[in-house]
Amino acid sequence: MTNLTLKDKRIVIIGGSSGIGLATAKLAADQGAYLIIAGRSQSKLDQAKLVLEDYGSVEYHPLDNTDERQQQTFFENIGALDHLFTPGASYVRGSLQSSSEVAHSCFNAKFWPQYNAVKYAAPLLNVGGSVVLMSGAFGQRPLADGASYAACNGAIESLGKALAVELSPIRVNVISPGTIRTSFNWEGAEQAVRDQSYEQYSSMNLLGRIGQASEAAHTVLYLMTNSYTTGSTLFPDGGYILR
Ligand SMILES: NC(=O)c1ccc[n+]([C@@H]2O[C@H](COP(=O)([O-])OP(=O)(O)OC[C@H]3O[C@@H](n4cnc5c(N)ncnc54)[C@H](OP(=O)(O)O)[C@@H]3O)[C@@H](O)[C@H]2O)c1
Repeated sequence: MTNLTLKDKRIVIIGGSSGIGLATAKLAADQGAYLIIAGRSQSKLDQAKLVLEDYGSVEYHPLDNTDERQQQTFFENIGALDHLFTPGASYVRGSLQSSSEVAHSCFNAKFWPQYNAVKYAAPLLNVGGSVVLMSGAFGQRPLADGASYAACNGAIESLGKALAVELSPIRVNVISPGTIRTSFNWEGAEQAVRDQSYEQYSSMNLLGRIGQASEAAHTVLYLMTNSYTTGSTLFPDGGYILR
Protein backbone atom coordinates (compact mmCIF):
# COMPACT_ATOMS: atom_id res chain seq x y z
CA MET A 1 0.00 0.00 0.00
CA THR A 2 1.27 3.49 -0.80
CA ASN A 3 2.67 5.28 2.21
CA LEU A 4 1.96 8.89 1.31
CA THR A 5 3.86 10.40 4.19
CA LEU A 6 7.54 10.38 5.04
CA LYS A 7 6.87 10.73 8.77
CA ASP A 8 9.69 9.15 10.81
CA LYS A 9 11.46 7.92 7.65
CA ARG A 10 15.26 8.26 7.64
CA ILE A 11 16.23 10.11 4.49
CA VAL A 12 19.81 10.68 3.31
CA ILE A 13 20.42 13.55 0.88
CA ILE A 14 23.95 13.83 -0.47
CA GLY A 15 24.04 17.40 -1.75
CA GLY A 16 21.28 18.45 0.64
CA SER A 17 22.86 21.71 1.77
CA SER A 18 21.66 23.78 -1.20
CA GLY A 19 19.33 23.97 -4.20
CA ILE A 20 17.13 20.99 -5.10
CA GLY A 21 18.58 18.84 -2.30
CA LEU A 22 17.83 21.44 0.36
CA ALA A 23 14.32 22.06 -1.02
CA THR A 24 13.72 18.29 -0.82
CA ALA A 25 14.99 18.22 2.76
CA LYS A 26 12.56 20.98 3.69
CA LEU A 27 9.53 19.27 2.11
CA ALA A 28 10.45 15.95 3.74
CA ALA A 29 11.02 17.63 7.12
CA ASP A 30 7.58 19.23 6.79
CA GLN A 31 6.21 15.67 6.66
CA GLY A 32 8.10 14.67 9.80
CA ALA A 33 11.05 12.82 8.22
CA TYR A 34 14.45 12.43 9.90
CA LEU A 35 17.04 14.02 7.59
CA ILE A 36 20.72 13.20 7.15
CA ILE A 37 22.26 15.86 4.95
CA ALA A 38 25.74 15.81 3.42
CA GLY A 39 27.81 18.23 1.36
CA ARG A 40 31.42 19.33 1.05
CA SER A 41 31.49 22.76 2.60
CA GLN A 42 30.73 23.54 6.23
CA SER A 43 29.51 26.99 5.21
CA LYS A 44 26.70 25.57 3.06
CA LEU A 45 25.83 23.06 5.77
CA ASP A 46 25.61 25.99 8.21
CA GLN A 47 23.34 27.90 5.80
CA ALA A 48 21.13 24.80 5.50
CA LYS A 49 20.95 24.66 9.31
CA LEU A 50 19.45 28.14 9.28
CA VAL A 51 16.85 27.13 6.66
CA LEU A 52 15.96 24.00 8.63
CA GLU A 53 16.29 25.46 12.13
CA ASP A 54 12.61 24.85 12.93
CA TYR A 55 13.11 21.10 12.51
CA GLY A 56 14.91 19.21 15.27
CA SER A 57 15.49 15.98 13.40
CA VAL A 58 18.32 16.85 11.01
CA GLU A 59 21.97 15.68 10.98
CA TYR A 60 24.66 17.50 8.96
CA HIS A 61 27.75 15.69 7.63
CA PRO A 62 30.71 17.03 5.67
CA LEU A 63 31.32 14.69 2.69
CA ASP A 64 33.00 14.87 -0.71
CA ASN A 65 31.16 12.21 -2.73
CA THR A 66 33.91 12.06 -5.38
CA ASP A 67 36.02 10.23 -2.78
CA GLU A 68 34.76 6.63 -2.65
CA ARG A 69 36.39 5.93 0.72
CA GLN A 70 34.63 8.93 2.26
CA GLN A 71 31.30 7.65 0.98
CA GLN A 72 31.98 4.17 2.36
CA THR A 73 32.82 5.59 5.82
CA PHE A 74 29.83 7.94 5.71
CA PHE A 75 27.38 5.08 5.14
CA GLU A 76 29.10 2.85 7.72
CA ASN A 77 28.52 5.61 10.26
CA ILE A 78 24.92 6.53 9.56
CA GLY A 79 23.29 3.08 9.76
CA ALA A 80 19.89 2.07 8.37
CA LEU A 81 17.93 4.40 6.10
CA ASP A 82 14.63 4.47 4.19
CA HIS A 83 15.35 6.75 1.23
CA LEU A 84 18.46 8.02 -0.53
CA PHE A 85 18.61 11.07 -2.84
CA THR A 86 21.91 11.99 -4.51
CA PRO A 87 21.91 15.44 -6.16
CA GLY A 88 25.41 16.44 -4.95
CA ALA A 89 27.61 17.25 -7.94
CA SER A 90 29.92 19.95 -9.23
CA TYR A 91 31.20 19.72 -12.82
CA VAL A 92 31.70 21.73 -16.00
CA ARG A 93 29.86 21.35 -19.30
CA GLY A 94 31.85 21.85 -22.48
CA SER A 95 31.96 21.21 -26.23
CA LEU A 96 33.74 18.29 -27.91
CA GLN A 97 36.93 20.34 -28.18
CA SER A 98 37.07 20.99 -24.42
CA SER A 99 39.92 19.59 -22.35
CA SER A 100 39.73 16.02 -21.08
CA GLU A 101 39.36 17.45 -17.60
CA VAL A 102 36.14 19.22 -18.61
CA ALA A 103 34.88 16.29 -20.67
CA HIS A 104 35.41 13.80 -17.84
CA SER A 105 34.15 16.07 -15.08
CA CYS A 106 30.48 15.08 -15.52
CA PHE A 107 31.07 11.35 -15.16
CA ASN A 108 33.63 11.90 -12.37
CA ALA A 109 31.41 14.26 -10.38
CA LYS A 110 27.87 13.14 -11.20
CA PHE A 111 27.79 9.51 -12.43
CA TRP A 112 30.36 7.63 -10.32
CA PRO A 113 29.54 9.37 -7.02
CA GLN A 114 25.88 8.34 -7.39
CA TYR A 115 26.87 4.80 -8.41
CA ASN A 116 29.10 4.53 -5.32
CA ALA A 117 26.47 6.03 -3.02
CA VAL A 118 24.00 3.33 -4.01
CA LYS A 119 26.71 0.67 -3.69
CA TYR A 120 27.30 1.52 -0.02
CA ALA A 121 23.71 2.49 0.84
CA ALA A 122 21.99 -0.57 -0.65
CA PRO A 123 22.75 -2.99 2.24
CA LEU A 124 21.42 -0.39 4.69
CA LEU A 125 18.09 0.34 3.00
CA ASN A 126 15.03 -0.73 4.97
CA VAL A 127 12.19 -2.78 3.45
CA GLY A 128 9.98 -0.40 1.45
CA GLY A 129 12.95 1.89 0.85
CA SER A 130 13.96 3.71 -2.31
CA VAL A 131 16.70 5.54 -4.15
CA VAL A 132 16.25 8.67 -6.27
CA LEU A 133 19.12 9.48 -8.64
CA MET A 134 19.73 12.91 -10.16
CA SER A 135 19.96 13.29 -13.96
CA GLY A 136 19.05 16.34 -16.11
CA ALA A 137 16.72 16.93 -19.09
CA PHE A 138 19.72 18.04 -21.18
CA GLY A 139 20.34 14.31 -21.62
CA GLN A 140 17.12 13.97 -23.65
CA ARG A 141 17.41 17.28 -25.48
CA PRO A 142 21.10 18.23 -25.71
CA LEU A 143 22.39 21.57 -26.92
CA ALA A 144 25.60 21.88 -28.92
CA ASP A 145 27.95 22.41 -25.99
CA GLY A 146 27.79 19.42 -23.72
CA ALA A 147 28.06 15.99 -25.32
CA SER A 148 29.70 14.31 -22.33
CA TYR A 149 27.20 15.95 -19.97
CA ALA A 150 24.26 14.73 -22.08
CA ALA A 151 25.78 11.25 -22.20
CA CYS A 152 26.32 11.30 -18.44
CA ASN A 153 22.63 12.07 -17.84
CA GLY A 154 21.65 9.30 -20.26
CA ALA A 155 23.93 6.92 -18.36
CA ILE A 156 22.34 7.90 -15.04
CA GLU A 157 18.87 7.19 -16.44
CA SER A 158 20.06 3.73 -17.59
CA LEU A 159 21.72 3.20 -14.22
CA GLY A 160 18.38 3.85 -12.53
CA LYS A 161 16.70 1.12 -14.61
CA ALA A 162 19.52 -1.37 -14.05
CA LEU A 163 19.60 -0.77 -10.31
CA ALA A 164 15.81 -1.06 -10.09
CA VAL A 165 16.23 -4.58 -11.50
CA GLU A 166 19.25 -5.48 -9.37
CA LEU A 167 17.96 -4.12 -6.05
CA SER A 168 14.27 -5.08 -6.36
CA PRO A 169 12.12 -4.82 -4.24
CA ILE A 170 14.01 -1.67 -3.26
CA ARG A 171 12.69 0.93 -5.71
CA VAL A 172 15.12 3.00 -7.78
CA ASN A 173 13.99 6.04 -9.81
CA VAL A 174 15.53 9.09 -11.46
CA ILE A 175 14.60 12.77 -11.51
CA SER A 176 15.67 14.64 -14.66
CA PRO A 177 14.86 18.34 -14.24
CA GLY A 178 14.98 21.15 -16.76
CA THR A 179 16.45 24.48 -15.69
CA ILE A 180 15.74 25.13 -12.02
CA ARG A 181 16.59 28.35 -10.17
CA THR A 182 19.42 27.41 -7.76
CA SER A 183 23.00 28.55 -7.26
CA PHE A 184 24.35 25.60 -9.29
CA ASN A 185 27.51 26.65 -11.19
CA TRP A 186 26.54 30.25 -10.54
CA GLU A 187 28.65 31.13 -7.53
CA GLY A 188 30.43 34.36 -8.38
CA ALA A 189 28.49 34.92 -11.62
CA GLU A 190 27.05 38.37 -12.17
CA GLN A 191 23.30 38.72 -11.79
CA ALA A 192 22.98 40.03 -15.38
CA VAL A 193 24.63 36.89 -16.75
CA ARG A 194 22.29 34.69 -14.73
CA ASP A 195 19.24 36.65 -15.81
CA GLN A 196 20.21 36.40 -19.47
CA SER A 197 20.71 32.65 -19.28
CA TYR A 198 17.46 32.09 -17.40
CA GLU A 199 15.62 34.20 -19.98
CA GLN A 200 17.08 32.08 -22.76
CA TYR A 201 16.07 28.80 -21.05
CA SER A 202 12.60 30.19 -20.30
CA SER A 203 12.00 30.55 -24.03
CA MET A 204 13.05 26.94 -24.57
CA ASN A 205 10.23 25.18 -22.75
CA LEU A 206 6.44 25.02 -22.99
CA LEU A 207 5.70 26.92 -19.78
CA GLY A 208 7.88 29.92 -20.60
CA ARG A 209 9.70 30.04 -17.27
CA ILE A 210 12.39 28.24 -15.37
CA GLY A 211 11.45 26.00 -12.46
CA GLN A 212 11.67 26.44 -8.69
CA ALA A 213 13.68 24.08 -6.49
CA SER A 214 10.47 23.22 -4.63
CA GLU A 215 8.92 21.97 -7.89
CA ALA A 216 11.80 19.55 -8.44
CA ALA A 217 11.67 18.57 -4.75
CA HIS A 218 7.98 17.72 -5.09
CA THR A 219 8.91 15.23 -7.84
CA VAL A 220 11.50 13.62 -5.56
CA LEU A 221 8.93 13.22 -2.79
CA TYR A 222 6.52 11.56 -5.23
CA LEU A 223 9.24 9.08 -6.23
CA MET A 224 10.02 8.32 -2.58
CA THR A 225 6.40 7.79 -1.57
CA ASN A 226 4.72 6.06 -4.53
CA SER A 227 5.20 2.39 -3.74
CA TYR A 228 4.46 1.11 -7.28
CA THR A 229 6.94 3.30 -9.18
CA THR A 230 10.37 1.87 -9.92
CA GLY A 231 12.82 2.11 -12.83
CA SER A 232 11.19 5.39 -13.93
CA THR A 233 12.60 8.76 -14.89
CA LEU A 234 10.43 11.85 -14.28
CA PHE A 235 11.02 15.21 -15.96
CA PRO A 236 10.02 18.33 -14.02
CA ASP A 237 11.21 20.44 -16.96
CA GLY A 238 8.30 22.71 -17.96
CA GLY A 239 8.14 20.79 -21.25
CA TYR A 240 11.78 21.53 -22.22
CA ILE A 241 12.09 18.17 -23.92
CA LEU A 242 9.06 18.80 -26.14
CA ARG A 243 9.85 22.24 -27.45
N1 LIG B 1 19.63 23.59 -11.25
C1 LIG B 1 19.35 23.08 -12.45
O1 LIG B 1 18.91 23.78 -13.38
C2 LIG B 1 19.54 21.61 -12.70
C3 LIG B 1 18.97 21.04 -13.85
C4 LIG B 1 19.15 19.69 -14.09
C5 LIG B 1 19.90 18.92 -13.21
N2 LIG B 1 20.45 19.50 -12.11
C6 LIG B 1 21.26 18.67 -11.24
O2 LIG B 1 20.89 18.88 -9.89
C7 LIG B 1 22.02 18.62 -9.06
C8 LIG B 1 22.07 19.67 -7.97
O3 LIG B 1 21.88 20.90 -8.53
P1 LIG B 1 21.34 22.17 -7.76
O4 LIG B 1 20.84 23.04 -8.84
O5 LIG B 1 20.49 21.83 -6.61
O6 LIG B 1 22.77 22.77 -7.27
P2 LIG B 1 23.30 23.44 -5.97
O7 LIG B 1 22.33 24.42 -5.40
O8 LIG B 1 24.67 23.94 -6.32
O9 LIG B 1 23.43 22.23 -4.94
C9 LIG B 1 24.44 21.27 -5.08
C10 LIG B 1 24.59 20.55 -3.74
O10 LIG B 1 25.51 19.48 -3.91
C11 LIG B 1 26.60 19.63 -3.01
N3 LIG B 1 27.79 19.09 -3.65
C12 LIG B 1 28.44 19.55 -4.76
N4 LIG B 1 29.52 18.81 -5.01
C13 LIG B 1 29.56 17.84 -4.04
C14 LIG B 1 30.44 16.79 -3.74
N5 LIG B 1 31.54 16.54 -4.49
N6 LIG B 1 30.19 16.00 -2.67
C15 LIG B 1 29.09 16.21 -1.90
N7 LIG B 1 28.22 17.21 -2.12
C16 LIG B 1 28.46 18.01 -3.19
C17 LIG B 1 26.66 21.14 -2.73
O11 LIG B 1 27.31 21.47 -1.51
P3 LIG B 1 28.92 21.73 -1.51
O12 LIG B 1 29.23 22.59 -2.68
O13 LIG B 1 29.20 22.36 -0.19
O14 LIG B 1 29.53 20.38 -1.63
C18 LIG B 1 25.18 21.45 -2.64
O15 LIG B 1 24.64 21.03 -1.42
C19 LIG B 1 23.22 18.53 -9.98
O16 LIG B 1 23.57 17.17 -10.13
C20 LIG B 1 22.72 19.05 -11.30
O17 LIG B 1 23.32 18.39 -12.41
C21 LIG B 1 20.28 20.81 -11.83
